[in-house]
Amino acid sequence: MDLHLNHKRALVTGSTKGIGKAIALELAREGADVIVNGRKQDVVNATVAEIAGQLSQTKPQTAVGDIQAAVGDINDEAVREQIFTQFPTVDILINNVGIFEPMAYDAIDDATWRHFFDVNVLAGNALARHYLPRMLAQDFGRIIFIASEEAIMPSGEMPQYSMTKTMNLSLAKSLSKLTVASHVTVNTIMPGSTLTEGVQTMLNRMYAGSGLPESEWEADFMRNHRPNSQIQRLIRPEEVGRFAAFVASPDASSFSGEALRVDGGLVPTIF
Ligand SMILES: NC(=O)c1ccc[n+]([C@@H]2O[C@H](COP(=O)([O-])OP(=O)(O)OC[C@H]3O[C@@H](n4cnc5c(N)ncnc54)[C@H](OP(=O)(O)O)[C@@H]3O)[C@@H](O)[C@H]2O)c1
Repeated sequence: MDLHLNHKRALVTGSTKGIGKAIALELAREGADVIVNGRKQDVVNATVAEIAGQLSQTKPQTAVGDIQAAVGDINDEAVREQIFTQFPTVDILINNVGIFEPMAYDAIDDATWRHFFDVNVLAGNALARHYLPRMLAQDFGRIIFIASEEAIMPSGEMPQYSMTKTMNLSLAKSLSKLTVASHVTVNTIMPGSTLTEGVQTMLNRMYAGSGLPESEWEADFMRNHRPNSQIQRLIRPEEVGRFAAFVASPDASSFSGEALRVDGGLVPTIF
C-alpha cells in the first residue's frame, strides 16, 4: 500500500528509541524525509545510520526518504528555536516525547508535576504553535500527539503522567478546530503498554530481584498489571509505527481531532 508520503518532511520528537524510532522508521520506509530527534548527538547519528541501513537491506525498492538529524532536548526553548531555524516548515509533526514513571501520589511534589507538564504537554504545544500556522499556509499538514491509554483510563500508578496524557487529547481536539476546511489534521494516538526501552527499564525495576525468570516478566506484568488487555502481551513499537505512518499520510484525511486507540483491547469500553 502506497501511503503517498514520498518526500513529506516529518519531525518525530524522541525518535532514537521506542515508539518514536519505530514511527520514524515506518515513515522513512514510505519515503518521507524524516528528522530524527534525541538529546545526544552520537545516539541521533547512530539512529539515522541504522534507519538508512535497515531500509536498504529490507526494502530496497522503496523510495527511502532523506533522513536528517535535530539534536537536543525538546523541553529546552533554545533547542526548539534551533530546530525552527533548521527546519522552518514540516509536513508532519509527531509529538512523541513523553516521560513516564510509576509514582505514589503522596511522593509527587510540585516540581515533579510541573516537569511532567513541561515535557509532556508544553514542549509539544510549542512545536505545534510554530508548525500549525505554516501547515495551514501550505494547506497540508499532520500533527499527531502520542498520548496513552492512561489518558482515558488512568490506572492510578502514575497520576502525574496520566494527567498530561489527558491534556494531549484536549489540546489536539482544540487545535483541530483551527484546521476547518483545510488539508491539515491534528489527532492523538493512544498506545497501550508497548515494549520499548523505557518500558523494559520499568520491568527491570519491578522484577529484578523478584526471583521470576526474565522470560516470564512480560506475561506476569500483563496478568497482574494489565488484566484488561485482550492480547495479554506488550504491543511492539512497530505496530504503533505502522499505524502512525498511516494517520500521518494524505490517505488519512478524514481523521480530525480524533483520539485513536492502539491498545490491544486494554480499554474495556466501546467509546
Ligand atoms: N511504551 C509504552 O508502553 C507507552 C504506552 C503509551 C504511550 N507511550 C508514549 O509513547 C511515547 C514514547 O514512549 P517510549 O516508551 O517509546 O519512550 P522511550 O523508550 O523512553 O524513548 C524515549 C525517546 O525520547 C527521547 N527523549 C526523551 N526525552 C527527550 C527530550 N526531552 N527531548 C528529546 N528527546 C527525548 C529518547 O532519546 P534520548 O534518550 O536519546 O534523548 C528516546 O528516543 C511517550 O510519549 C509515552 O508516553 C508509551
